[in-house]
Amino acid sequence: MMEETIRVLVSEEDVDARIKVLGEKISRDYAGRQVHLICILKGGVFFMCELAKRISVPVSMDFMSVSSYGDDTKSSGIVRIAKDLDESIEGKDVLIVEDIIDSGRTLYYLIDVLRKRNPNSVHLCTLLDKPERRVRDVKVDYVGFEIPDEFVVGYGLDYAQKYRNLPYIGVVEGVE
Ligand code: IMP
Ligand code: MG
Repeated sequence: MMEETIRVLVSEEDVDARIKVLGEKISRDYAGRQVHLICILKGGVFFMCELAKRISVPVSMDFMSVSSYGDDTKSSGIVRIAKDLDESIEGKDVLIVEDIIDSGRTLYYLIDVLRKRNPNSVHLCTLLDKPERRVRDVKVDYVGFEIPDEFVVGYGLDYAQKYRNLPYIGVVEGVE
């Protein structure tokens, strides 16, 4: 078995600086309102915590876990809710916080599910976006970084459940 190595794609300093900017923008956009952050587990956790600390309007949070049937690096488009939200989102200004939008299939499905629950608004914030890989049209309101079509880890993203805890974004090398 070959041991994989990690090449830094976005440094810790650059990730942190970008999250601060996103937090400030969200604070302006949601001025006078409360933003209800919905974290998509597990990948969105690190990003949501850092983002929430940079938002100056009132914040509430909830968590959802979805899994798509398929292997680790490709999503099949069939999405299952493994853990649903604890609270109703009716009348709330929902901001979905995701680690990465790849094909867009997961969020395409999820946004539809959440809209049916009568929130006041639904917007989407992702740390990373791979626009080249999109097969489903998803409107992304806040993007940390657009990245090329490479498999990345760190800041919540995993490769076989490893590397989520890296404080930077890296590319996995030495696999396949
Ligand atoms: P989508 O439905 O294809 O947009 O899938 C998005 C999900 O696939 C993300 O939430 C990740 O869990 C996973 N994913 C996609 N690309 C990567 C990657 O480069 N590294 C780690 N996970 C990824
Ligand atoms: Mg994910």
